[in-house]
Amino acid sequence: MKDTVVGQIFFSDNLEVLKMLPSASVDLIYIDPPFNTGKVQQRTQLRTVRAVDGERVGFQGDRYRTIALGTKRFSDVFDDYLGFLEPRLLEARRVLAPHGAFYFHIDYREVHYCKVLLDSIFGRDSFINEIIWAYDYGGRPKNRWPPKHDNILFYVKDPTHYVFNSDEIERIPYLAPGLVGPAKAARGKLPTDVWWHTIVPTNSSEKTGYPTQKPLGIMRRIIRASSRPGDLVLDFFAGSGTTGVAALELGRRFVLVDNNPEALAVMAKRFDGVDRIEWVGFDPQLHRGQKCQPTLFSAPPSSQGHPDVP
Ligand SMILES: C[S@@+](CC[C@H](N)C(=O)[O-])C[C@H]1O[C@@H](n2cnc3c(N)ncnc32)[C@H](O)[C@@H]1O
Repeated sequence: MKDTVVGQIFFSDNLEVLKMLPSASVDLIYIDPPFNTGKVQQRTQLRTVRAVDGERVGFQGDRYRTIALGTKRFSDVFDDYLGFLEPRLLEARRVLAPHGAFYFHIDYREVHYCKVLLDSIFGRDSFINEIIWAYDYGGRPKNRWPPKHDNILFYVKDPTHYVFNSDEIERIPYLAPGLVGPAKAARGKLPTDVWWHTIVPTNSSEKTGYPTQKPLGIMRRIIRASSRPGDLVLDFFAGSGTTGVAALELGRRFVLVDNNPEALAVMAKRFDGVDRIEWVGFDPQLHRGQKCQPTLFSAPPSSQGHPDVP
């Protein structure tokens, strides 16, 4: 990547881009591939406007009509999921720097198969943590324990020598601060491998309307812990570009890749006004000056369209 740019964003199949990247050139990789839910992931953005013939009745009897602004979607159906991932994971390990870290975001349906595949690529000794991201949103089926977490597998290239900045990680409040004394309570504690963190809240300014968008809070924590200012962060299943937004905020450079034009359109809006980004295979000009529309009504993002979630 040229010194004059802070980020590169590719509209491409990620395998093509990975093959072009030099070996050992990336300090941190985070990926959040489609979870193989067997569905098309989609999110429809709606806006409500006042209208005398509207179908909904609101405050003081006013009637409102709901207008669909558009639907963003990507396919999440794979005949051979591990066969799709494997060549990309092999390339990921190749491009990772000797001190580099790799985070793989998935859910309960595929995590065990992916762990075995990743162990075969990185080596079992290189597996450092399984992070459980727990949230509380959506429906609760009555025929099993409601699934309310994602899994993030954390590997490094060399388990004897890797970046982990525990002092940079934001501390969190003690559950029982009265038990630890005022100084410790004021300082808070280090998060463990179980992260309680909200999904991207509906109607928050962070929300882009892209299906399965992940929270900036999760990405900031990973980037702070596993990279240094000026480092290069790669996300080759970039979606709405959350990894790039967090990297930019924390003074890291980034490479993002997605093969869905709707993802690129969202990223163009998200990075509008940010100079020194190189766009490859996509012209962001068409989307300049537009803001991302928060989703007013949609399926939840992080459960990746789990059938139990309404
Ligand atoms: C779960 S989403 C990522 C969401 C992202 N973490 C965010 O916060 O918005 C997975 C993304 O991978 C993209 N994708 C799937 N197959 C791909 C491929 N072969 N090359 C590049 N991108 C791909 C999809 O278009 C989708 O945007």
